Amino acid sequence: MPRAIQILATPADLFHAAAEEFVRVGKAAIAARGRFTVALSGGSTPKSLYSLLPAQHAAFNWDHTFLFFGDERHVPPDHPDSNYRMVKEALLTKLSIPAENVFRVNTENPDAAAAALEYETELRRFFALTSGEFPRFDLILLGMGPDGHTASLFPGSDGLKEQSRLVIANWVEKFNTHRITFTFPVLNHAAQVIFLASGPDKANMVHQVLEGKHTPPYPSQQVQPINGTLLWMLDEAAAAKLAR
Ligand code: 6PG
Repeated sequence: MPRAIQILATPADLFHAAAEEFVRVGKAAIAARGRFTVALSGGSTPKSLYSLLPAQHAAFNWDHTFLFFGDERHVPPDHPDSNYRMVKEALLTKLSIPAENVFRVNTENPDAAAAALEYETELRRFFALTSGEFPRFDLILLGMGPDGHTASLFPGSDGLKEQSRLVIANWVEKFNTHRITFTFPVLNHAAQVIFLASGPDKANMVHQVLEGKHTPPYPSQQVQPINGTLLWMLDEAAAAKLAR
C-alpha cells in the first residue's frame, strides 16, 4: 500500500491543497464510474476544507457526488457536536447538492447500536453489497486525535477489533458515550484515504503514528488501505516532529 506525505507551509495552504485533491479524486471517479463516493471526517480540522469547496469548486459535479460520514456523535443532527451539523453549515447550505446524495446517520434513534445498524444497512443498499463484502469508497477523509484515534476508533475501545461489521456503535470511555463509526475494514477498503492534520497539538502524535512502532498500534496506524492509497496531508506545524 503506497503511503504519501504532503507537507504544506500553512493551514491555508493545507486546506487549499486538500480541496484540490478532493476535486481531483472526485473528477477521476466520476469520469471512470459515473459517481464519486466520499466519507467525510468530523471534528474541527476539516471545517476549513469543507468551507473551501463551495467557495473554490462550486462548479464541481456535486450531482454525481455522494456524501457519507465516517463517524458521527450520538447526538441530534442540530446539536453543536454533530458532524452532520458542521458539514451542513460549512458545505451543504452553500452547495446545490441533491438532498438524496447526502447520507447522514439517523442519530435521533436513541439506540446507538440500532442507528449504526441502520447506517450499515444504508451502505449495503447503496453499494449493493453481498454479505461479507465491504464498500469501496472512492475517498475517505480522516482526522487524527492527539491520542491517535481516527474516525471514532479510539485506543482501547472494543471497536478496534471489529472485522465484519461496516458500522458500529463504539463505546468511548473517555467521553462516556457511544460514537457511531465506520470500522477498519471499511476504512481499509477505500480506494483512497486522506488524513488531514493541522497545528502543533498534532505534531507529537503525527510523529508517533508515521515514524513510531507501537504495540498495540495506534488506531491511526491501523488504517492501511488494502488496495488503495494513503495520503497524509499536513501543515508544517503538524509535521514539526517528523524526522524526514
Ligand atoms: C470526530 C472525528 C474525529 C476527528 C479527530 C480530530 O468525529 O471528532 O471524526 O476522528 O477527526 O478527533 O479532530 P479535530 O480535527 O477536531 O482535531
